[in-house]
Parts: sequence; structure tokens; C-alpha cells
Amino acid sequence: ELPENGKVTWKAPSNIALVKYWGKKPVQIPANPSISFTLDTCATTTSVSYGKKNNGGISFDLLFEGKAKEDFKPKIHTFFERIREYVPFLDKYHFTIDTTNSFPHSSGIASSASGMAALSMCLMDMEKTLNPAMSDELFHAKASYLARLGSGSACRSIKGSMVQWGAHKNIPNSSNLYGIEYPFEIHPVFNGFCDTILLVHKGQKQVSSTVGHQLMHGHPYATNRFEQAFANLDTLKPILASGDLEGFIKLVESEALTLHAMMMTSMPYFILMKPDTLEIINKVWEFRLDTKIPLCFTLDAGANVHLLYPSSEKEKVQKFIKDNLADHCENGQYINDVVGSGAIKI
Ligand code: PMV
Repeated sequence: ELPENGKVTWKAPSNIALVKYWGKKPVQIPANPSISFTLDTCATTTSVSYGKKNNGGISFDLLFEGKAKEDFKPKIHTFFERIREYVPFLDKYHFTIDTTNSFPHSSGIASSASGMAALSMCLMDMEKTLNPAMSDELFHAKASYLARLGSGSACRSIKGSMVQWGAHKNIPNSSNLYGIEYPFEIHPVFNGFCDTILLVHKGQKQVSSTVGHQLMHGHPYATNRFEQAFANLDTLKPILASGDLEGFIKLVESEALTLHAMMMTSMPYFILMKPDTLEIINKVWEFRLDTKIPLCFTLDAGANVHLLYPSSEKEKVQKFIKDNLADHCENGQYINDVVGSGAIKI
């Protein structure tokens, strides 16, 4: 039995995809499998306070850093509608959801992945009280399942350090319904791998990822793109096992540019990269050619650039970023992050 009232708090990280998820079917089923690094510094901390109520129906208040926040309410409402059949107690409580991000407001960093993951962990924490015998495995799989229904990529923010999502015949236990810890060998060069996020453009994106996914329906290159993503997961396996950074760079950068190529070739077409995005990419390529340091970039559905590199190159790369790339960031802002291990209870 759940108590009359109580409070749970979880912190969940953001993640950055290496093979991108772009295109989906109802409800939140990915058109192709994807894989990501779980991050560490970029995270959302969410507290859920709950109190029993008599009438049924979904009822919650939403706070952002302690202050009422109406903008996200419809998204959370849709999320609750979708998950109520899996979360039996949802209608029995009024919830107050208070959420805080570690990264600057509207930095253009997707907070939906970390936010939906943190909220899902809070709900699963409550469910665990009802069902204490639940295995850790089920707990995490169901949290990822719920998070997916909030925001697809959020299902990859429950666990670390690499999470794969989407059924793939060569990946045992892979599923369209939740993310799994990458089941194959990962070379130690990827331990503590770094991701510096360059905040190129902090404004609102002109096209949301929801719309972007929809535009893959009837997209002239969709079938080839989805096949490529399946193939890239196969290609990645020996790269990750052997620590082949050259192969890694080729695959990861190609995935990023392909994602944006899909945006540029949809109807309507759109461009999320900014001039500074391209300046940064060119400088990264120059730097790599000059220094032979395995620094590469990837992109989300936005103008910001994620720079990936091994921790052994941290000093040199971070000096390069500070001296040569910070000027391309809005207000000189960037975030040094690193691969992390998933959501934690606070
Ligand atoms: O989770 P969504 O629906 O916001 O989609 C995110 C899609 C990308 O970030 C562009 C790629 C990915 O796999 O994370």
C-alpha cells in the first residue's frame, strides 16, 4: 500500500546519440535502432510530492526550480495519459512535480530526455513501494519504457554508459519498447570519454523534434536512412570492441550529418545548423588533421555541437576549445561533460 503522501527525488542525465533516432511510428516506436552515450553533468533533478485524492483523473502541478511553469504542462499531461494504463496508482494521487536542470535555462540542450527519465524514475520508485519484490532489471526496464512514452530518446537516459534502443536482429534483448545497456564489449578508451557541448544557439528551434520525426513519413530517403542506421549498429560493434577511434569518428560524424541531411531534404525542408555550427565543424576537422588527436563532433536536432574525445586528450582538446571555439558559442558558453552511469536516487 502506498502512503497517504510522500516525496521522491531522482536525478537523470541527458544522453548523446552516436547512431541517431529520427523517425517513429505510434506510439513512440522508433523507425530505426539507436545508441547513445549517457552523460553525467547535464542532468535533471526531479522531485515528485504526492498526496492521495478521492476523485479519479490526472492531477498535477508543475514547478520549474520551485516556480510554477505552465509551458510544459501539456507535454506532461500527454505523458500521464499514455502511461496511466501501466501505472495503476496514477489516478489516485495529486502530484507536485518540481524539476531543476543542471544546465542553463533554454540553452538549447534538450531537457526532455533527462526530464522524462527523472520523472519516470520517481514514478517507478513509488511503484517499487507497492511491489518491493520487483527485480532491479524490471525496475530499470519499466522506467525506460515509461520514459520512452514521454520522449523517445529519454529511454536511453536511465542507464549508463552506453544504451541501445530499438529492435535489432544482431543485438540480443534489444527492444523497441525500452533501452538496454549495450550488451557487447566496449574498449577502455571509451571509459570516461568526454563530451563538450558548445552552446551555439540558445533560442527556440524553429522545428521541434516531434515535427521532425513526422517528416520522415513519406520522406524520399527514409527507407535508405533506416537501413543505414541498422547497418551502422553492426559496423559500430567491432569499433567499440577494439577502440578503433578512426572508425568511430567516421561513423559518428556521418550519422550527425545524415540526421541534418534528412531535415534538409524533407518537405517542408529546414536547417537547424547555424553559421557557427559549420565554423566549428571546419575547425574541428583542421585541428584533427594538424594534431592527429581523435576529436570528433556530433549534432542533436539543433545548432549546438557536441565534441567527443578520449579523456587522455582532455587537456589539449579543452585548451583548443577555449582558445578557438568558445567565440562561436553564444555568450562563450559551453559545458564539459563526460560519459556517465545513469539515473540516481537523491
Ligand atoms: O527524443 P526526441 O523525440 O526528442 O528525439 C531526439 C532525436 C535526436 O536527438 C535528434 C536523435 C537521438 O537519437 O537522440
